[in-house]
Amino acid sequence: METLLQRFLSAIVATEKYFAHAKNLIDVRVDSSQISNDRKGCETTIPKRKDTEMIINGAVGVVTGAASGIGRALSEELAKRGAKALALVDHSEAVSGIADEVNAKVGAKVATGYSGDVTDAGFRGKLFAELHERHGMVNICVPAAGVTRDGLAVKVDKETDKVMVYPQELFRKVMEVNLVAPVYWAMEMVAGIAEERRRKGLKRWDPAEPLQGAVIFIGSVSSLGNKGQIAYAATKAGLEGAAATLMMEAIYHGVRCGIIHPGYTDTPMVRALGEDYIRDRIIPLTQLRRLIKPEEIADAICFMIQNAAVSGSLWADAGFHPNA
Ligand SMILES: NC(=O)c1ccc[n+]([C@@H]2O[C@H](COP(=O)([O-])OP(=O)(O)OC[C@H]3O[C@@H](n4cnc5c(N)ncnc54)[C@H](O)[C@@H]3O)[C@@H](O)[C@H]2O)c1
Repeated sequence: METLLQRFLSAIVATEKYFAHAKNLIDVRVDSSQISNDRKGCETTIPKRKDTEMIINGAVGVVTGAASGIGRALSEELAKRGAKALALVDHSEAVSGIADEVNAKVGAKVATGYSGDVTDAGFRGKLFAELHERHGMVNICVPAAGVTRDGLAVKVDKETDKVMVYPQELFRKVMEVNLVAPVYWAMEMVAGIAEERRRKGLKRWDPAEPLQGAVIFIGSVSSLGNKGQIAYAATKAGLEGAAATLMMEAIYHGVRCGIIHPGYTDTPMVRALGEDYIRDRIIPLTQLRRLIKPEEIADAICFMIQNAAVSGSLWADAGFHPNA
């Protein structure tokens, strides 16, 4: 039979084990030494470094579509997580002001706004060259700029009985912005990393090295098909194929690649659908009965960047289950 003394001793051992475990948890969560001095007291959430992670802290990133919605929220989140330099790209002039806001929030000059068209290859090339010269290798690319140009694939005018096909020019325009541009922005970053590695005499990335970079494409729940979005849905499904291919190729240079498929997110792109449409045709089809916050998508993208075990696609859709 257990004596009183034995019980007392095992209680002490159990208590010690509990405190050792609790200390470990605290050690993982609080690591203020990771926060650089010039940012103390500002909005930073820099996590403890693990060897297997792609590190946002100290990274150089490019975010397109950064003047609005998801791209804007992501820029802020990357800055809070300690990115060294961020290029915020958008054809809206407002992007410079957004960069200033991001810098004010983190108390450091991290973000710079670049106003231009993502479909312009010259603009893209110059921007990467400038970033490389000023900050070194770019290692995060999230090409988030996108457009919708909704319309039925084949539409019958009830008044005139005229049948109309979705305009080909419009289809091509959506393809250029939503599919061709993101893939080329991503490849530009991978090419920069490949060149830098060649210069250093490095060939195939070795798992003993740190990961070199990450690309996250922005797909959509519409990639599974969505009435009225023939062009948009095709581009987002196309990104799935591009991501899967780049994922296989870019790891040669130490770059991971993934795609996130957001559901309806509360951004100007979705607000443009109108309050009635959102209330009647979107919210009831979501399990959460609400739009997703841009910050939630930004957080999910950062998770994909940081957690090296994550590959392929992530659905961040608020449980969106539309009827056929
Ligand atoms: N909001 C959603 O519900 C949702 C859902 C799934 C996927 N997405 C995708 O997320 C991304 C961001 O969407 P958002 O909702 O934040 O949209 P948004 O309209 O708020 O922002 C898109 C930004 O892209 C910029 N842009 C568009 N064309 C450009 C071009 N040619 N050159 C430079 N900049 C350009 C716009 O100026 C704008 O600032 C898009 O790729 C979109 O398809 C959005």
